[in-house]
Amino acid sequence: MQTTPTASQLADLRATAERVAANAYAPYSHFRVGAALLLSAPANAVDIIVTGCNVENASFRLTTCAEQAAVARAVAQHGPGIRIIAVAVANLNDSASQPCGACRQTLLEFSLPQTLVLYPGPHGQAAQQLLSELLPAGFALDPA
Ligand code: THU
Repeated sequence: MQTTPTASQLADLRATAERVAANAYAPYSHFRVGAALLLSAPANAVDIIVTGCNVENASFRLTTCAEQAAVARAVAQHGPGIRIIAVAVANLNDSASQPCGACRQTLLEFSLPQTLVLYPGPHGQAAQQLLSELLPAGFALDPA
């Protein structure tokens, strides 16, 4: 199983997140976000990348973030055993943006200790951090 991303996979992931942001439904905030997950797969298998974008709603609190949409889609497509090697988040607003707190907790559910988060940092710089750094004290429930 691959658990560490290569540089070219990360570049591909960023580009994929940016592409899917163009599909966002964001008529209220006009903040268009894309997310791309790189899932663990057997060594030498083709990369498994699953995307999502934000989908807003006139009842604002029903809005789905891009990361949450991608996770829901990944589980639907590949089952409950998925593990996220890396996630890239992009927006089309030239804005620095890390995943929100709720999205960090959603990603944590399917994470690895080394899950990497790529996001647009300040001044147009690409930034990255471990999910465990972005969410050092995430909630966990030990199933009985
Ligand atoms: N948004 C995301 O898609 N992901 C995040 O991590 C933060 C916020 C979306 C939700 C809403 O449609 C818009 O960005 C503005 O908050």
